[in-house]
Amino acid sequence: MKTTHKTILITGANSGLGKEAARQLAGLKETVRIFLGCRNEAKAIAAKEDLERTTGRSIFEIVLMDVSSVPSVQKAVAGLDQSVDALIMNAGGMGGKAPGQLTSDGVTQMFAANVLGHVALLEELLKAKKLNHIAVFAGSEATRGVKKMGMKRPKLETGSVEELASVIDGSFFGNKYDPMQAYGYIKYLGTLWMSALARKHNGTNFITVSPGNTSGTAVMDDLPFLMRGIFKNIMIPFVMPMMGMVHSVEKGAARYVTAITDPQLKSGVFYGSRPNALTGPIMDQSTIFPQLNDHRIQDNAVEAIHRFIR
Ligand SMILES: NC(=O)c1ccc[n+]([C@@H]2O[C@H](COP(=O)([O-])OP(=O)(O)OC[C@H]3O[C@@H](n4cnc5c(N)ncnc54)[C@H](OP(=O)(O)O)[C@@H]3O)[C@@H](O)[C@H]2O)c1
Repeated sequence: MKTTHKTILITGANSGLGKEAARQLAGLKETVRIFLGCRNEAKAIAAKEDLERTTGRSIFEIVLMDVSSVPSVQKAVAGLDQSVDALIMNAGGMGGKAPGQLTSDGVTQMFAANVLGHVALLEELLKAKKLNHIAVFAGSEATRGVKKMGMKRPKLETGSVEELASVIDGSFFGNKYDPMQAYGYIKYLGTLWMSALARKHNGTNFITVSPGNTSGTAVMDDLPFLMRGIFKNIMIPFVMPMMGMVHSVEKGAARYVTAITDPQLKSGVFYGSRPNALTGPIMDQSTIFPQLNDHRIQDNAVEAIHRFIR
């Protein structure tokens, strides 16, 4: 596997983990161009200027794209004037103020921002022969459950296409869309899709990595008021550091850098923290949650996702 990459595209690169990954990757002399995939032009310009100032390098280029919109990412790929060696699909999070609301594609906002647009983006790049080495998807330990944060491991009845499609359109969750529970299922679908791609494409690597529980980003900002208050004001600044359960944005973003540069990591695998941990060394998460390796569920996830891409 190639471990150096000249050109890198990072989605959600204007803040948090995506911006920090851009900063770290600019520190590698091999990197000659970093595309900042962002949906908001003003925020993207501010991030680009800040990255140029702090790294002393003028290698950043803005690519406007809203990863919750399939036409938007397709337009962005068509506008790319060169192929990229590495893609980091980092955009996403808790799905904004109305995570359970449906988009015009019939998927929840949370699914659109984390998975649907990235599927369109990566598949469009592959079709256009514009991805050379590796794609990384931002997963989460929520996919194998995080007891200490009250996040249950996703539990499917059958793993059928129908059931997975019901996760995508939110009907799986009934009347109450709890973002803290839906999040693990949604990252799970993205992870299954990546593993399925790895089985089908030789020569390109597909790795899911969780950045780990990371402080100092905006990921919790859109949670309901009470939940946000508990996490942002009590759990993350006080309780979790005492338990060693949260790390810095530098450490979180370094996991993306590891994912694209470490030759030991294997295509199709989801890497995250050790059992009961949310920080520290990374390991294959299927040793904690074996169902991640179920080829039938992986293929069903691909089929379910494509029901929503026209
Ligand atoms: N922080 C953690 O503890 C943690 C743990 C595990 C996984 N993750 C994952 O890591 C990724 C980055 O999270 P973060 O903590 O850095 O959160 P963040 O600070 O909220 O950053 C998210 C980034 O994604 C962008 N984004 C969101 N929706 C988008 C869309 N539809 N189109 C384009 N860009 C979009 C945001 O842009 P705007 O500024 O325009 O909103 C922002 O730049 C997420 O996928 C998250 O699920 C985070």
